[in-house]
Amino acid sequence: MDKSLTTDNSIRSLSRVKTMNIDFPNPVGLAAGFDRDGELLSSFIPAGFGFIEIGTVNVNSTCNEGESLKKIINNIQHSKSSSENKTVIGVSLGSLRDTIDDNTVADYITGMELFWNCSDYLVINLSRPGSSMRDKSTINSELHLLLNKVKQSHSELCTRHGTYRPVIVKIAIEYKKSSLSLPETLTIALELQFDGLLLAFENWPSSDDIVTALGKVLLLTNKLPLIVVGGIKTASDVSKILSAGAVLVQCYTLFVDKTPEEINKTIVDLL
Ligand SMILES: Cc1cc2nc3c(=O)[nH]c(=O)nc-3n(C[C@H](O)[C@H](O)[C@H](O)COP(=O)(O)O)c2cc1C
Repeated sequence: MDKSLTTDNSIRSLSRVKTMNIDFPNPVGLAAGFDRDGELLSSFIPAGFGFIEIGTVNVNSTCNEGESLKKIINNIQHSKSSSENKTVIGVSLGSLRDTIDDNTVADYITGMELFWNCSDYLVINLSRPGSSMRDKSTINSELHLLLNKVKQSHSELCTRHGTYRPVIVKIAIEYKKSSLSLPETLTIALELQFDGLLLAFENWPSSDDIVTALGKVLLLTNKLPLIVVGGIKTASDVSKILSAGAVLVQCYTLFVDKTPEEINKTIVDLL
């Protein structure tokens, strides 16, 4: 890794963002799935991301997964304490169950408890491909119940730990498909006082279409911080989506097969 990446703070002062009570060095983040276990953090933190989302960690509350989860926590703690650069680290939490029941709720709650201290924010991931949580028909019943219980536990954890940890919900919005309805999810997230919504736009033809969709969302609310991921490739995409009202963006595909130095250059170009 090029040493200059660890000392060059020029991109960090360009576009700081304060949202959800967190100072983000810049608005470009690494999306979940890229570094599931936090094993690449020591290379990715100096690369200049505004934030990095670890996971999705699919916790199973009915199994003893202590060792594998402890390893992820250690990776995050170690890279945070050994890096000169401060990067915001989120942890994406999931459940691999096919039904939404008390066990599913317990998976998310266990995940929040485990990653509370080592994360800067937590994500309730409802975007897993093929999962019933992406299904439009769940929105008004089970999903509301799930998110309600998750948010109640989140409040209890805040009290118990004496610290606030922002918690957001990630949903997938497939182009012209009947995935979860954005307005309804937005209403639930607002009502239950989540800290933000992470919108994964899937298979959208262009960032202009995403901008149009965001415009409609912002007519419903401009209060809830929106983070956008999906199809972002250029500085123009980033600037359009941020101008349309998103507070932060994430990319995945753009960083595939790139060295940390190439990632650093890509982030600089995006900003
Ligand atoms: C191989 C692969 C694995 C992924 N794993 C996850 C995951 O574990 N959790 C998650 O929330 N999203 C996951 N995603 C979705 C990404 O976070 C992101 O939403 C999606 O790739 C769209 O962004 P992009 O167009 O910049 O790639 C994954 C995507 C890919 C391609």
